[in-house]
Amino acid sequence: MLHDLESFRAWFFASESMPTGVLRPAAVAPGPDDAWHILRIVEATPKSATDMLVLGSSRARADAVITTGKILREEPDVTVAFPDHARADLEAFRRDVLGENARPLPLPFVLTSGRGFDPGHRMIRDAGGAVVVTNDDGARRLGAQGLPDTITVVAVDEPDIREAVRVAREQFEVGTISIDAGPTAANALHDDPLLVDEVFLAVYEGSLAPDLLGPPFVSRRHLARRFVPASARAAVDEPSGPWTFQRFVHA
Ligand SMILES: NC(=O)c1ccc[n+]([C@@H]2O[C@H](COP(=O)([O-])OP(=O)(O)OC[C@H]3O[C@@H](n4cnc5c(N)ncnc54)[C@H](OP(=O)(O)O)[C@@H]3O)[C@@H](O)[C@H]2O)c1
Repeated sequence: MLHDLESFRAWFFASESMPTGVLRPAAVAPGPDDAWHILRIVEATPKSATDMLVLGSSRARADAVITTGKILREEPDVTVAFPDHARADLEAFRRDVLGENARPLPLPFVLTSGRGFDPGHRMIRDAGGAVVVTNDDGARRLGAQGLPDTITVVAVDEPDIREAVRVAREQFEVGTISIDAGPTAANALHDDPLLVDEVFLAVYEGSLAPDLLGPPFVSRRHLARRFVPASARAAVDEPSGPWTFQRFVHA
């Protein structure tokens, strides 16, 4: 029911216009400790067509995506390009929100120490370039490796995801940012002052092999205290099992 963009959009983005901000889509599942854990994205991870739209709509709204070197190494096929079956709809959605002059796809910002960085990764190829946020050692390492002109390296004293947001905003005039980093890096965005404007939460409610659970997402308590629902909570039965989806904005 939510798989076409029109009905998805009427539900997920019903309550308001779409302001500039930091968007954090996350697919999670309850762990044995009952805390939400990020789903590790591997072949066996439960798939969801609705989650593809959730993630696609976050990228469609974004001028930039922040990811990590670890994700690029672990997910050789992860990309900012839209999935084939929803491409035309998501491109139209992007034009609606960002206007005709926006770049066709968000620009990836990669937080990394520079070790094992692949400048030919699919995300960077699809986006036509990237910005790497690292420290001086990382910049030296990447310089020695030799990078194409489409990749800009920014060295900062103490790189972390909050610095990556600052660099994107101040040096690249980026408006909306979609976060595609795991919890080790991205949970720091929830420290004070809170840098996340919207959370797009997908919860897999079925049973799951323990090795598909990644590190903990932010706590339920944090979400309840710092965010308010901006969409109804939708339960969707997918071929992979039961899921629930909800969008939150910061209170
Ligand atoms: N389900 C979902 O919604 C979702 C979303 C995103 C990710 N994931 C999953 O989450 C997992 C990855 O999450 P994670 O928490 O383990 O890792 P992560 O936070 O994505 O990445 C950690 C990496 O970030 C870079 N980094 C962090 N702090 C840095 C600093 N101060 N300076 C330079 N680089 C820094 C390093 O990259 P280098 O190692 O390159 O130096 C580090 O290894 C994957 O399994 C992925 O599939 C799931």
